[in-house]
Amino acid sequence: MGGATSCLKDAFGRSITYLRLSVTDRCNLRCFYCMPQADFNWMPPEEILRFEEIVQLTRVLAGLGVGKIRFTGGEPLVRKDIVKLISDVNQLEGVHETCITTNGVLLEDLAGELYHAGLRHLNISLDTLRPERFSEITGRDFFHRVWSGIEECISLGFSPIKINFVMMKGKNDDEIVDFARLSLRYPVDVRFIEFMPIGKHSKWGKNHFLSSDDAKGMIEKAVGILEPVSRGKEAGPAEMFTLPGGQGKIGFISPLSHRFCSKCNRIRVTADGRLRLCLFSDVEIDLRQVLRKGVSDSELSHFFTETVLKKPARYLKNKQDVPSCDRQMSSIGG
Ligand code: GTP
Ligand code: 5AD
Ligand code: SF4
Repeated sequence: MGGATSCLKDAFGRSITYLRLSVTDRCNLRCFYCMPQADFNWMPPEEILRFEEIVQLTRVLAGLGVGKIRFTGGEPLVRKDIVKLISDVNQLEGVHETCITTNGVLLEDLAGELYHAGLRHLNISLDTLRPERFSEITGRDFFHRVWSGIEECISLGFSPIKINFVMMKGKNDDEIVDFARLSLRYPVDVRFIEFMPIGKHSKWGKNHFLSSDDAKGMIEKAVGILEPVSRGKEAGPAEMFTLPGGQGKIGFISPLSHRFCSKCNRIRVTADGRLRLCLFSDVEIDLRQVLRKGVSDSELSHFFTETVLKKPARYLKNKQDVPSCDRQMSSIGG
């Protein structure tokens, strides 16, 4: 595209500057809360967006001011040639930040190449520091691999490194304080995420839910006062804090207890090329069909400007409802 970037705005005046792009629904873990344990099929390969389609859509979005691209999955690092894709997207005009959300299993092998490709922002999902519990939650005995991948990324100088901890009462809430302490010992941000009911077969239940306020209370009691950190306009939904003497920060993402839709700046594309305008809305637009028709960049740009006007204001009609959606997390990417 080239030229000056314009701005992608939805019908409520929110600027869309952030794309979450799922590059595969496959994963090398089987987290019980993320995908069905049985009876599921991976997307057929021909349905997955190809590299040139991803490059076209990110180039056009970058031209519209969507400068932050986060690669998600499934597990994005299992996609063949992902490093090359990140490197190509990173070089597009208008892209100023490429990031990845990974389970960390392949970081030991790929961290060096990812750094070289220009990636600096890493979000790593990790719900326990106990190897046995890791196997129970994820179905795989890979805790040590993930931990050495994190150490490798710290020593290579990735920054920020954010650890995402999904809080699940009765499963890992006894580790909240241990995770908070990681930010004292390591230069990593630790973010506590409220468990959301995502996917038709979600294992979410009120009995598993723990709010950010509960977690804050536990941390302050055991470790010290959480000092709020002020953040810029573009700063995502996490509320950030520091602990006295902390090398990294502590964050809370509270989609259920403190809604943040009015500041939403993001859209999502699933691995099979569906545009999702809201995490919780199962209304999807078939972007793949548009791309496979052979659209020009300017036609695609027009398509995005029009389509984004359908982004809902928020995910709930009734305040008392718990938001949820049918598509499973492993094929949305969070
Ligand atoms: P940063 O760019 O580092 O701020 O990352 P991020 O928080 O946008 O991305 P990440 O993939 O690490 O997501 C962290 C958690 O926030 C996951 O549980 C996501 O599902 C959740 N999340 C991200 N964006 C949204 C959103 O727009 N709405 C809701 N409800 N949850 C979101
Ligand atoms: N609720 C909250 N966060 C979730 N994640 C996956 N499933 C859920 C859920 N039901 C997190 C992952 C990853 C990010 C993309 O979303 O742990 O860090
Ligand atoms: Fe945006 Fe939907 Fe998330 Fe609300 S729930 S912040 S509208 S993606």
